[in-house]
Amino acid sequence: MAKNTRIDINEQLNSLCLKKCNKEKRKEVTEEDLCTETISEMDKLPVRCVGAWAVQKIHHLVQYFAIFSLGMKNKWDGKINYIEICSGPGRCINRETGFEFNGTSLCIVQNEACKHLNKALFFDYNETVVSTLNSRINANKTPNALALVGDYNNPNKICDDIIRETKGIGLYLIFIDPTDCSIPFSLLQVLKERLKHVDFIVNFAIKTDFNRNIKNAIQSPDTHQNVINKYKSFLGSDDFFHNPLIETASSKDLRSLFREAYVNSLKKIGYQFFDFKPIENYYDLVFASSNERGIEFWEKANKIQFDGQRQLF
Ligand SMILES: C[S@@+](CC[C@H](N)C(=O)[O-])C[C@H]1O[C@@H](n2cnc3c(N)ncnc32)[C@H](O)[C@@H]1O
Repeated sequence: MAKNTRIDINEQLNSLCLKKCNKEKRKEVTEEDLCTETISEMDKLPVRCVGAWAVQKIHHLVQYFAIFSLGMKNKWDGKINYIEICSGPGRCINRETGFEFNGTSLCIVQNEACKHLNKALFFDYNETVVSTLNSRINANKTPNALALVGDYNNPNKICDDIIRETKGIGLYLIFIDPTDCSIPFSLLQVLKERLKHVDFIVNFAIKTDFNRNIKNAIQSPDTHQNVINKYKSFLGSDDFFHNPLIETASSKDLRSLFREAYVNSLKKIGYQFFDFKPIENYYDLVFASSNERGIEFWEKANKIQFDGQRQLF
């Protein structure tokens, strides 16, 4: 499947991958999703164990990144920055097939358009992940890229680091890639408030985390306060839970109401243009921009289908 994408993800078979580890086995053979059974054949550094659909996310992100960077570099006089929060170590391994490939961060660093950036900054709270990614960045000789330890629950610290590294000027494309709905909306709010010119792409765990937990949370709120608080923090508002429609809504309608609540919060911090790009049955990539050009670029990027075929209209 990955071979058909136009983006070079440097795929290669890892002979030590156990393949097809189930959930229980994965708990045994990974530490924070880094495999403890094998390392990368490419550079002997850690790899992150992932499902096959990770490649689709990379495809959409990198297509957009290239179009955005090329389209904006002159307008912003070279002051464009790429920021990734939840960067991972830069190299993933497909748990089904045992093929390893570049993650989002390394794909960005190796992309031609990276040279147009003022800075590419990558944040992850795991120190091993950050030092691994820095080794890969150094091996790639990309002087404008850097990985830093940063926790998305501490948005101001991440923002301080971004401002120190970029002087706080220019245009920012910020990709946030968590595994569930744990990122607080205050992260987006603080980034937008302090950096001003920011477009977001957010991994929105609507068909995993949300689907699994929302019905029980609505039906038995007393025993699901943690989940409810997590979603309220993610949405940056309580409105979803005050909507009487959620009591009887179907799963599909609940997802629509949840997306709508997210859009409402994005509008409150200054966004006007949105899109939700579903990645199979797992998550959406939410795109948010306050500039019409942003959504034009996003649509253009998404016309390049995952299998490399341009969509026909
Ligand atoms: C889905 S993975 C990232 C994958 C990567 N973007 C890619 O596609 O190659 C999520 C990452 O979030 C990191 N993470 C988890 N909790 C975090 C937190 N509170 N702050 C920052 N990073 C966190 C994990 O260490 C993990 O590397």
